[in-house]
Amino acid sequence: MDKMLVTSGRVLNGTVAASGAKNAALPILFSTLLAEGEHTFDNVPLLKDIDSTAELLKSLGCESIRGEGPNQHTFKVNVSKLKTFEAHYDLVRKMRASILCLGPMLAKYGEATVSLPGGCAIGTRPIDLHLDAMKALGAEIELRDGYVFAKAKKLKGTTILFEKTTVGGTENLLMAAVLAEGKTIIENAAKEPEIVDLANYLIKMGAKITGHGTSVITVEGVDKLIPARHSIMPDRIEAGTLLIAGAITGGDVTVTKCQPHDLDALINKMKESGFKIDVTENSMRIHPLKRWKAVDITTAPHPLFATDLQAQFMALMTVAEGTSVISETVFENRFMHVTELMRLGADITPKTQVAVVRGKPGGLSAAPVMATDLRASASLVLAGLVAKGETLVSRIYHLDRGYENLEGKLISLGAQVKRVP
Ligand code: EPZ
Repeated sequence: MDKMLVTSGRVLNGTVAASGAKNAALPILFSTLLAEGEHTFDNVPLLKDIDSTAELLKSLGCESIRGEGPNQHTFKVNVSKLKTFEAHYDLVRKMRASILCLGPMLAKYGEATVSLPGGCAIGTRPIDLHLDAMKALGAEIELRDGYVFAKAKKLKGTTILFEKTTVGGTENLLMAAVLAEGKTIIENAAKEPEIVDLANYLIKMGAKITGHGTSVITVEGVDKLIPARHSIMPDRIEAGTLLIAGAITGGDVTVTKCQPHDLDALINKMKESGFKIDVTENSMRIHPLKRWKAVDITTAPHPLFATDLQAQFMALMTVAEGTSVISETVFENRFMHVTELMRLGADITPKTQVAVVRGKPGGLSAAPVMATDLRASASLVLAGLVAKGETLVSRIYHLDRGYENLEGKLISLGAQVKRVP
């Protein structure tokens, strides 16, 4: 069933726990290729993208198994001699993060054939920075027939400066560098919390890494890594999405099992907009507010405002008082949700990389809308919570890629949402 019916009029109240972070789990699952044996992970979210990653690892020769019942968030990966070094197009095109198998396979086995991921709705999503980094470590890279053919007898550490901040590029390079010879210094590294979580798991396996979470990461190559056990960090994007769900309905919602410090940019903006938000070490609570002010946001690499929360925040701004200027500087085409929000009555003027939102408190009304990408689908569900009537959001398979049981979480807070065929 790929439609969600969202009925407006409910104020969300109560407590909801965030799940494990998709964007930490994906690179960490690929990092298992660096060490043969059994890896165990806790707090792994139940998502389509995790299934896709398991499928790709299986195609390479790794077995993975998810726990049952109360242990369903525990995930084991058994890596033994790979039966192939090829990540096939059919699997990579379903999830472009599959490119993250390049660095670990190259580092551990000296060979990797990975289909080019291709673009997606939000942009062309090139991987040139990933490939330049592998070449800098001494890999031979050839692009042919839609595949990356990479070979390296032994990767050698060096200093690499990313001319553009890239989360995936930093992750691929980090996973290659941990088994390279000598020291690798990554400059202009991405600082996302998910990279810190990946580095923490690599260190548990025996890697020597310092500076993760800052823009300069230093890696001392080691000869071998040993599988370990790790609990995936909470998903800050899901936590932020749930907080906005409370905000947009004027509710009193507490999100637990999260790391609010990873969301300082969002929390500061919501406070600027008028919301009262209490924060503890692992929870955040938003207090009821009838009217909130429009504020401007500009997305940028962490710790600035996360591009993955831009669509959700825009939904909140469509019913704010005043005009909000939303600038998207990370991806070239991440306003696919704008026209769909306009179908709900939002007053938005999209320009290149900037959208001007003239807020209309209480001004949205229900209509059928279509999700185009993961975070756009969340934005439409949030808007549906306050668009008068019943909003039918189609293509919500996008939602299932990155949100574990979002409808169940919203219903537990009092929302009226349900999947329909
Ligand atoms: C990661 O994508 C996330 N995905 C994205 O989340 C997130 O939006 C993005 O980081 C930015 O935070 C995962 O972690 C699986 P980038 P990634 O490399 O690594 C350009 C979601 O909704 N670029 O930091 O692909 C690129 O085109 C997803 O969960 C190059 O030009 O993002 C983009 O404009 C969506 N060349 C910018 O850099 C390259 O070689 C940032 O991309 C690589 C990237």
